[in-house]
Amino acid sequence: MSFNLRIYQQELAQLTPVYKLESLDLHIFESIPSTNQKIWSLIDLGNPLPIALIALQQTAGKGQWGRTWQSSLGGLYLSVAIECDLVLDDSFHLTMATTWGITNLLRIYGIPLAIKWPNDLILENRKLGGIKIETRTSNNKIQYAVIGVGINWGNSVPEIGINLQSYFFKKQPPSITSLEQLTAITIRGILSGYQHYLEIGSQQILANYKKLLTSIGQEVIVNNCPGIVTGVTDKGKLKVRLQSSGASTEISLSSGQISLGYLNQ
Ligand code: BTN
Repeated sequence: MSFNLRIYQQELAQLTPVYKLESLDLHIFESIPSTNQKIWSLIDLGNPLPIALIALQQTAGKGQWGRTWQSSLGGLYLSVAIECDLVLDDSFHLTMATTWGITNLLRIYGIPLAIKWPNDLILENRKLGGIKIETRTSNNKIQYAVIGVGINWGNSVPEIGINLQSYFFKKQPPSITSLEQLTAITIRGILSGYQHYLEIGSQQILANYKKLLTSIGQEVIVNNCPGIVTGVTDKGKLKVRLQSSGASTEISLSSGQISLGYLNQ
């Protein structure tokens, strides 16, 4: 398994330019604990941002909620570091902008991807990938953000997962033909999502993000009370309308308070 930088550069050159895409350096590693962890060390060395970094495999890939992200050969393990100027309270804006950016661009490639709140990439009701954002703050402002993305390309996946190569096996011809192309597209998706956010603002990005959510309308149980997901706030909370004995109340839940299952479960 290897990564051909020249193919990546050719693929990148074919994409419409976006926020600092051409000046972005890609660092490639064979096997490291975590691309998120490694990119922080490049930031600390003073590398100009944005930068991107991939590993062909990770030995301690970080998932959400302290989970491990299985990172065997064949998958995309990517981190992109950007400088930003966001108040801490708006950290969800990074999640929605970048998750929307990646999802929207892959949909342009004909892949019917959706988002499971807050930032799972869902294809055919299965998890194609996930995003783990880490930030560094100063004076209540987010100064640096690392957007870590894992997308299943040719790697083996758990039962709830799907990889793009098996999806394309059924849907010929493939619109993406290599890990290098997927890397270029994903980096562009992250940067264009962020650029879009800077240009059009959080409310419009939230509206775009909500259009791609699988979660709206989903039935959930909260503290033994049945409810229905009605939306997401721009702070990243899930809005749920609870119904009990004729009355209905709307509550907002953070991602630590509720976890949505997959729709076919
Ligand atoms: C999730 O749990 O859904 C998020 C998974 C994010 C995994 C990616 S792989 C590249 C980057 N480096 C890490 O250690 N984690 C993220």
